[in-house]
Amino acid sequence: MTEWEIRGGDCLDLMKELSADSVDLIMTSPPYADQRKSTYGGIHPDKYVEWWKPIAIEMQRVLKPTGTLIVNIKEKVVAGERHIYVMDMIRSMRESGWLWTEEYIWHKRNCTPGKWPNRFRDSFERCLHFNCQRKFTMYQDAVREPVGNWAAKRMDKLSDNDRQRTESAVGSGFGRNVSNWAGRDTVYPTNVLHMATECSNVGHSAAYPVGLPKWFIKLFTQAGDLVLDPFSGSGTTGVAAIQEGRRYLGMEKSAEYLRVSRSRLDTGCIPPPPRDPNIEEDENPLGYIGILFGDDD
Ligand SMILES: C[S@@+](CC[C@H](N)C(=O)[O-])C[C@H]1O[C@@H](n2cnc3c(N)ncnc32)[C@H](O)[C@@H]1O
Repeated sequence: MTEWEIRGGDCLDLMKELSADSVDLIMTSPPYADQRKSTYGGIHPDKYVEWWKPIAIEMQRVLKPTGTLIVNIKEKVVAGERHIYVMDMIRSMRESGWLWTEEYIWHKRNCTPGKWPNRFRDSFERCLHFNCQRKFTMYQDAVREPVGNWAAKRMDKLSDNDRQRTESAVGSGFGRNVSNWAGRDTVYPTNVLHMATECSNVGHSAAYPVGLPKWFIKLFTQAGDLVLDPFSGSGTTGVAAIQEGRRYLGMEKSAEYLRVSRSRLDTGCIPPPPRDPNIEEDENPLGYIGILFGDDD
């Protein structure tokens, strides 16, 4: 494939056409049980795991052993309580060999105000992180963050204690040496990602913000790597992948979203910077953004 492609059809069938161990990162947001039945269908929460299982097995086959799978999902409320299909899904994936490495929380900075009788407004979603093996590719320095204003003040007044490793006062086993942070501009992030929801109209009712897939793409891939989104929707993962110089393969079963996302990727991605004549051609994998469509819509 060229730089990006979105194939139309059911991802379970489409993934069967891919070679084993060919994808570096799968970043996706599958339909959340039957939450958006009216716009793009849905699966009953009680049937979710049964539906998901063969898809997860196929994702395991196409992912490189060093690759990562990120699933953005949230359990819906059914009959007054949170349904446990996400927990069941994690359990079933572990049974088929996946490792549930980590869970990231996407904190939605701008969630809609509201009041419910038995809970507060929902301002987070999960991003579940799975791997096929314990050793996987991760570029932690790519997502370092500015250290923040607190650091200058705190480092200004270092006590003797701050200059040596001190053990946690509550016995957690986590020691620290505050002076290690002096003079640093950036730090590693936490597993809570603070990002606003998608506000611009990208033609999809459940699009996530470009920043979300982009963060994981930077963390788990390098330029030229292949990112797959089997539930591509409006193609947000593709926009992020292309902007970061990765290759993108999307899969989408709705003809309407297929059309919307292809046109978004065709026109909506920031073009790459002008080519530096001093750099060899193949050092800039996104010198152009090619188009390769399947013939299946
Ligand atoms: C939650 S949305 C993804 C939204 C996407 N992350 C975005 O930012 O636009 C899930 C998408 O999966 C598609 N879908 C549902 N079942 C599918 C299947 N079996 N194969 C491929 N696509 C499917 C739906 O049509 C929908 O567009």
